[in-house]
Amino acid sequence: MEQLAIMGGKPVRDVKIYYGRQCVGEDDIQAVAEVLRGPFITCGPKVEEAERRLAEYTGAKHAVVCSNGTAALHCACLAAGIGPGDEVITTPLTFAASANCAVYCGAKPVFADIDPETYNIDPQSIRQHITPNTKAVVAVDFTGQAVKIKEIRAICDEFGLIFIEDAAHAIGTRYDSQRVGSLADMTCFSFHPVKTITCGEGGAITTNDDELHKKLVLAHTHGITHDESLMEDAPHEGIWYYEQISLGFNYRMTDFQAAMLLSQLNKIESFKKRRAEIVHKYDKAFKDVPGIIVQKEIPQSDTCRHLYIIRLDLDRLNCTRRQFFDAMSAENVQCQIHYVPVYWFPFYRHMGYERGCCPNAEEVYKGILSIPLYPLLTDKDTDDVIHAVKKIADYYKK
Ligand SMILES: Cc1ncc(COP(=O)(O)O)c(C=O)c1O
Repeated sequence: MEQLAIMGGKPVRDVKIYYGRQCVGEDDIQAVAEVLRGPFITCGPKVEEAERRLAEYTGAKHAVVCSNGTAALHCACLAAGIGPGDEVITTPLTFAASANCAVYCGAKPVFADIDPETYNIDPQSIRQHITPNTKAVVAVDFTGQAVKIKEIRAICDEFGLIFIEDAAHAIGTRYDSQRVGSLADMTCFSFHPVKTITCGEGGAITTNDDELHKKLVLAHTHGITHDESLMEDAPHEGIWYYEQISLGFNYRMTDFQAAMLLSQLNKIESFKKRRAEIVHKYDKAFKDVPGIIVQKEIPQSDTCRHLYIIRLDLDRLNCTRRQFFDAMSAENVQCQIHYVPVYWFPFYRHMGYERGCCPNAEEVYKGILSIPLYPLLTDKDTDDVIHAVKKIADYYKK
């Protein structure tokens, strides 16, 4: 048996790798530099072009780009008309923003439980949490795998709810051969550096609905419009005239970010392909390792995987998740945990949320860790990751 690095053995690699990393090329740098040399660094043509291309790519009628994925979710909630007294159903196994967006609007997030095998929100649990106050569902395509869109769509239609898909992890994923972005009422994306494509910080909302689109545009730019048909006090006083007709925010994306986003979009299929190769290799390597559980996928999802999560079967290992995580770090493979159940955080605890309300999510949380997944990983890197996982699982095997 190999001696673990955490116990003084030789680490599987000398240079540390992390769970995620952006993939930025000279083409991206050139695209940004070109905009920086030009006349518009914000509110210019690259933003419009990025919106056109994103709509085209996802198959949605409209796209609005914005400053980050959190802003995208906030805008979607504003466009949905979510406000005080409303409830918004979401998953606890997500980044806090999926729930915070409801709180920003004065509404109450309600946590439905997950499927313990796919880790995505369970439509049956959504149904159980609907009350007369429920206004929307924020369903997260966790790790990039599409949620059960058909079932969630049916529930939303039955109860008159707005379906917001948090696809922060899922650009490039298809559900029943249609791209994520064209299926929910609104779909929100994030272009943070660990995501499949990035522009530093960035986000977008896509929709097929003309009215929601108008509201999204207003929400992300102060509630201000230059569109005469939307103005209340026309005739206006000159071409400089604009009106603020609602309360919005400055959530705009800059033109140099939009240029980088366009450049990254050119490469999304190759990023997806490399991610899929690594996922396939990991799945194959881990499927029969005692103590390691591999995430299940629904057949409808052709997933562009953002995260690769292994789940420890702690009944079959003589260690805690913390010990496994620290042992991976010592082997120079830096993992991360996605995510602490949102309602465990003090902010939510102080609002009265209690542990135990989503038992599947809490149980899954205890054993998960995200291992490195990004296109720049070499075959040697992924071999090292597999080596580290197997070495540690073997050491702690019961
Ligand atoms: C599921 C999910 N939703 C929303 C967000 C927010 O995106 P951003 O970081 O771009 O604000 C993230 C970001 O990590 C996320 O993982």
